[in-house]
Amino acid sequence: MDNIAIKTQNLVKHFGKGDTLVEVINDATFEIKKGELVALIAPSGAGKTTLLMMIGCVLTPTSGQIWLGEEKVYDNKWLTKEKRRIRREKIGFIFQAHYLIPFLNVIENVTLIPQINGVSLKEAKKEALELLDYFGIKDKANEMPANLSGGQNQRVAIARALANKPEIILADEPTAALDSKRSVDVVKMLKKIAIEQSVAVIMVTHDEAMVPLCDRVLTIKDKKVYNLSIDEYKNKTVV
Ligand SMILES: Nc1ncnc2c1ncn2[C@@H]1O[C@H](COP(=O)(O)OP(=O)(O)OP(=O)(O)O)[C@@H](O)[C@H]1O
Ligand SMILES: [Mg+2]
Repeated sequence: MDNIAIKTQNLVKHFGKGDTLVEVINDATFEIKKGELVALIAPSGAGKTTLLMMIGCVLTPTSGQIWLGEEKVYDNKWLTKEKRRIRREKIGFIFQAHYLIPFLNVIENVTLIPQINGVSLKEAKKEALELLDYFGIKDKANEMPANLSGGQNQRVAIARALANKPEIILADEPTAALDSKRSVDVVKMLKKIAIEQSVAVIMVTHDEAMVPLCDRVLTIKDKKVYNLSIDEYKNKTVV
């Protein structure tokens, strides 16, 4: 279990009930290892965001089990009252619309959560500058988000997700607003983070060109979740 970052067992998600019941995920059992960059690819409405939000302890499953690292967090109910603690300690979220706070500058955006978590401003700033340097945008530290390009904003959003030192990064279409070169840059960056920091990254994408840059592909078909190698995905041998 040591190298497993995310594990689900018989995970089920329904919305509504009776006539309006929508079954989205049925019996998902899979594992994702530390250091893996996993593409989550499935048609619109298949349940990608739903799956990410359950793993991120934002959306309550209907039934099943979820482990994040060593910690079992869900077993037909949340096993902790402190889902926020788990999100804060373990998970970094990156969204398509990067949701930088528009009235805070770049470094204030990156240091906000660590400060809320009790890290001193001095320490948070030092780490934020290291992250911004790592992403080649240290010179933008005092700029407002509105003055940055889409790609630069997305890098700030990734830096912000990392400022928390998460074990898991959940990224919902992080490259949707970017051109293909910038998309490749962002995905390569996520890959580097996965390897260097043993972080598990799940990245929702509709862009098949990103698949070769990833380690595995999670896909959802007929409510079933499949965790495939790149070859299995390409050859469509399993799904
Ligand atoms: N709160 C909700 N109440 C009812 N149904 C919902 C709710 N959230 C999602 N759904 C339904 O669950 C299904 C999966 O939605 P989800 O947002 O996970 O899809 P997705 O794969 O992320 O799609 P997209 O690629 O368009 O973002 C859809 O049929 C959607 O209508
Ligand atoms: Mg979605």
